[in-house]
Amino acid sequence: MDSLFDVAEGGENREERLAELARQVSVCTRCDLALNRTNTVFGTGDPYSPLMLVGEGPGENEDATGLPFVGRAGKLLDDILKAVNLTRDDVYLTNTVKCRAAQPEGGRMKNRPPRAGEINACNIYLAGQREAIRPRIILCLGGPAAKTIIDKDFRITKDRGKWYEVGGALAMATFHPAYVLRQRDDDLVRAKRAVWKDVQAVYAEYQKALEARG
Ligand code: URA
Repeated sequence: MDSLFDVAEGGENREERLAELARQVSVCTRCDLALNRTNTVFGTGDPYSPLMLVGEGPGENEDATGLPFVGRAGKLLDDILKAVNLTRDDVYLTNTVKCRAAQPEGGRMKNRPPRAGEINACNIYLAGQREAIRPRIILCLGGPAAKTIIDKDFRITKDRGKWYEVGGALAMATFHPAYVLRQRDDDLVRAKRAVWKDVQAVYAEYQKALEARG
């Protein structure tokens, strides 16, 4: 059911607002990432969830399917959510950019991090998603999402796991699942431990937000 707030805003529900934004994204040419994409990757999950997860951007698998986090990092993200009894359906999942960033390497296109200009060009859509959903909690997955949402000078190793108040939401950043997958031995144990700790704290706030809704 629509909240009173949605009705007060003109009767448009969140699904409709997001569908319109997704339509705009699907034909977007605000940056050059539009030139090589197969599909845009808008976002999935529950638009009424108090928890929004923001990753970096689509990779090859996401570009092919139009869905966020479908590769190995996505499998790890599912495990991270499962550790606190959540699934993708309990949260809203999106990225800082909605098109794959890639560059030619050895005769094929290789994923690369999105550039600041690309993230800025796309921020209008992430801002639109945040406005439509108004999540109580935002979990940034990795540095680019944290720099976009929390602070441009955010340092993921130093500042992850801390809460920040951003535009009416509580935001935290943790390591990106792809970063965790690149670690080995003790570094892998440390990174996993940090992410698991962060997600427990996020879950505690998620529970509070659900309770506050009644
Ligand atoms: N990494 C991201 O940050 N987002 C995706 O959708 C997939 C991998």
